[in-house]
Amino acid sequence: MTTTQSPSLATGPAEHPIHPEHTPTGQLAFGAFFQGVNSSTIWRLPESGDQVAWESFEALVRTAERGRFAAFFLGEGLRLREHREVPFELDVAGRPDAQTLLAALAGVTERIGLVATQNTTYNDPVDLARRLQTLDLLSGGRAGWNIVTTDNAWTGENFRRGGYLDHEDRYVHAEAFVEVAEQYWRGEQITHDGAHYSVRAQGDLPRSAQGRPVLFQAGASPAGQDFAARTSDVIFSPHGTLEAAVEFRRSIVERTVAAGRDAGSVKILPGAEIILAPTEAEAEEKVRWVRDLQIGPEQAIALLEQYWGRDLSAFDPDGPLPDVAPEVVESGVTRGAGFQFAKAEELTRAWREEAAEKGQSILEFARARSGARRGTFTGSYDQVAERLVEFARLGAIDGLNITPWLIPSGLDDIVDELIPRLQERGVYPTEYAGATLRENLGLPPG
Ligand SMILES: Cc1cc2nc3c(=O)[nH]c(=O)nc-3n(C[C@H](O)[C@H](O)[C@H](O)COP(=O)(O)O)c2cc1C
Repeated sequence: MTTTQSPSLATGPAEHPIHPEHTPTGQLAFGAFFQGVNSSTIWRLPESGDQVAWESFEALVRTAERGRFAAFFLGEGLRLREHREVPFELDVAGRPDAQTLLAALAGVTERIGLVATQNTTYNDPVDLARRLQTLDLLSGGRAGWNIVTTDNAWTGENFRRGGYLDHEDRYVHAEAFVEVAEQYWRGEQITHDGAHYSVRAQGDLPRSAQGRPVLFQAGASPAGQDFAARTSDVIFSPHGTLEAAVEFRRSIVERTVAAGRDAGSVKILPGAEIILAPTEAEAEEKVRWVRDLQIGPEQAIALLEQYWGRDLSAFDPDGPLPDVAPEVVESGVTRGAGFQFAKAEELTRAWREEAAEKGQSILEFARARSGARRGTFTGSYDQVAERLVEFARLGAIDGLNITPWLIPSGLDDIVDELIPRLQERGVYPTEYAGATLRENLGLPPG
């Protein structure tokens, strides 16, 4: 999602319906994504917080709540990430347990939703459902669960069962897992005999103010989309352009209707980065500054190594892209989620040509890619507000899950400058709609 106008999607829903059964709400909800790892957050400025300190989480969630954010969102990483089979030193450190943190944050907030990424591959359903319901109860109906399946073998090595699930089986397993969790939340007697576990249990906690935790899903493959269309309330999607967001919405609406649910049952919140300044020229300058801090020479080489699948440390970051072929073997490293190994050859060739054409070095190319990989809204306060109004009118998305490039102060200008402009334009709430996450996302009771 760049600020470039898309000629084919310039106007509103009446002229360009995404799907006959899709009715845009014209409203946006924001989530704040405390990512913890990745080069998207800059941890080495004087004003950077500590990546695991309570103060960082507390300050960010308070700002998000001041901005009427619907959700505060934590990712999950159950082992230090690996790159080329060794711990990835550039990725800061591990992430603390999300449910513990969110339970503490429930005590210092009143309205904001608290969403924990928790994977189905390495948890047990009754235990996880019970802990999520506890969070839902003690927060007054503000809990969310971002259901992930985790697709790398090194995380599996942390657990006694090892990385035992094939890619396709992860969602078969996830679906059974969520079914057991839902039975638990309904207080039902559970008798489940599946391929991966057997459960005899009974839900033992009362339902929360919102019924059950809101279900998020983050996984972009067709199997992931079908899973989301059948089971989830919200999708955390990775789409970087308006065109991709529109296509994704169409795909999800089709799958949701095919699953027998209403077209609007699944909300879509893409991950996004927002870089703002008073004027367009200042914003451009700021984007360059942010990119330089996010991607240094080592990060640039590491980024390319994810796609080349081989050691590129001999290449000069100020020189052209490597003129060697990628190693097309699947490995448990930080290769990008959703990356198609068979296409490595094609992709790396295209990148070499693109960089040569633009006269970009490895470093310059990696900095440009880093912005393009996620949805990025950059520009003056008014430009970004206008752009978001266009998204809301078109109904391609229901909001954004924003990763601040700086923590804890990275949401300040969004809350103080952008949100008032969105409120003036009628696309962002001036008050919380209700006390529960479900209400604040415009979802029906669970
Ligand atoms: C936007 C997004 C965020 C994700 N966040 C996490 C995360 O925090 N922890 C995790 O283990 N996996 C995370 N995943 C990975 C997914 O669980 C899943 O393993 C991966 O996307 C591959 O599934 P797919 O083939 O359906 O895309 C995320 C995926 C996406 C698309």
